[in-house]
Amino acid sequence: MRSLSGIQPSGILHIGNYFGAIKQFVELQDQYEGFYFLANYHALTSSPNGENLKQNTIEVILDYLALGLDPEKSTLFLQSDVPEHTELAWILANVTPMGLIERAHSYKDKVAKGIKPNMGLFTYPILMAADILMYDPDIVPVGKDQKQHVEITRDIAIKFNETYGKEVFKLPKEKIVESVAVVPGTDGDKMSKSYGNVINMFFSKKELKKQIMSIVTDSTPLEEPKNPDNNITKLYSLFATEAETEELKQKFLAGNFGYGHAKTELLDKFMDYFAPFREKREELVNNMDYVYEILRKGAEKARSIATAKMDEVRSVVGLLDKNY
Ligand code: ADP
Ligand code: TRP
Repeated sequence: MRSLSGIQPSGILHIGNYFGAIKQFVELQDQYEGFYFLANYHALTSSPNGENLKQNTIEVILDYLALGLDPEKSTLFLQSDVPEHTELAWILANVTPMGLIERAHSYKDKVAKGIKPNMGLFTYPILMAADILMYDPDIVPVGKDQKQHVEITRDIAIKFNETYGKEVFKLPKEKIVESVAVVPGTDGDKMSKSYGNVINMFFSKKELKKQIMSIVTDSTPLEEPKNPDNNITKLYSLFATEAETEELKQKFLAGNFGYGHAKTELLDKFMDYFAPFREKREELVNNMDYVYEILRKGAEKARSIATAKMDEVRSVVGLLDKNY
C-alpha cells in the first residue's frame, strides 16, 4: 500500500503543516510505502522569488528530516527533479472539464486573500492530480483544505480512465485526521504561510515568544473566569495530554489566571515538544551533503516509477514511443 503527499516550499513551515500533514506522514511510514515530496513547481504559483524559493526548499527538506521522515522508509524528493509531473499535468488537462477547476475553492480563497491570479494558480489542481496519479497511491494524507483537491484528482482519474477505456490510474483517497484537520492561527483563522498568523517550529525562543504572545484573545479582566475553549487552549492541546489540557481549562474557569500566563505555559510546552527535533535539525544543517544525497536517491527512485507510468500514458493517449 502506498501513501503520497507533498508540501509547497512557499515559506517556512508552521505547526499547522506539522500537525495537519507531516506528523501523519511520519506515523504512516511503517504501514505504507511513502512518497513525500516538495511541491516546488506549485510554489511558483505564489512565490515568484527565485532566491527565496531555493532557500525555502532547503529549509523544508531539513524540516521533513528533522521531524522524523526517514529516507530508509520513505522516498523523499523534489517535484522539480521529476519533470514528468508537468508532462502528465498537460495530458490530464485535456480530459479535465473547465467547470471542475472553476469550482475549486482554494483558488478563490487565495485570490480573495490578495494573491494575484495567474494560470499556474488556476490550473494548480491539475498539476496536483498529476503528482498523485503518477504513483498510484492508496492514500493521500493532507489537512482538510486539500480535501477538494484530492476529490478533483479522483474525478480527473475517472475521466481519463473512461476516455481511454483503460484503468491507467488508481483512484486515491484523502486521509485526514479530524482532530487536527484545521490548526488555528494566532488570529483564530486557519494557520497558513500566506496569512501571517503562524507559529513556526524552529524559530528562536525569542521569536516564538513573540508569535505566541500575539495570539488574539478577548479582554476579560485577569481575575474573572474565562471561556476555556479559547484559541490558546486549542493550540495547547496539540502538545499536551488530555489531562493537562483539562487542567488548563480549569484554571481558565477558576479566574485569576490571565491569558498571558496561559501563553507562557504554551510556550514552555512548545519548546519541550520540539526540543528533540530541534537538535536533530541542527545536526542535519551541519551535514548538508547527506541531505542532498537523500534528495538525489529519492529523485532516482521517484523518476523510475514516473518514467514507467509515462510510457503507459503516452502510449494510451497516442503519442508515439521512442522506438518508431
Ligand atoms: P499553507 O496553507 O500554510 O501554505 P500548504 O498549503 O503548503 O500550507 O499545506 C501543506 C500541508 O499542510 C497540507 O496537507 C495542508 O492541508 C496542511 N495544512 C496547512 N495548514 C494547515 C492547518 N492550519 N491545519 C491543518 N493542516 C494544515
Ligand atoms: N496542494 C498541496 C498544498 O498546498 C501541496 C501538494 C501539491 C500536494 N501536490 C500534492 C499534496 C500532491 C498532496 C499530494 O498543501
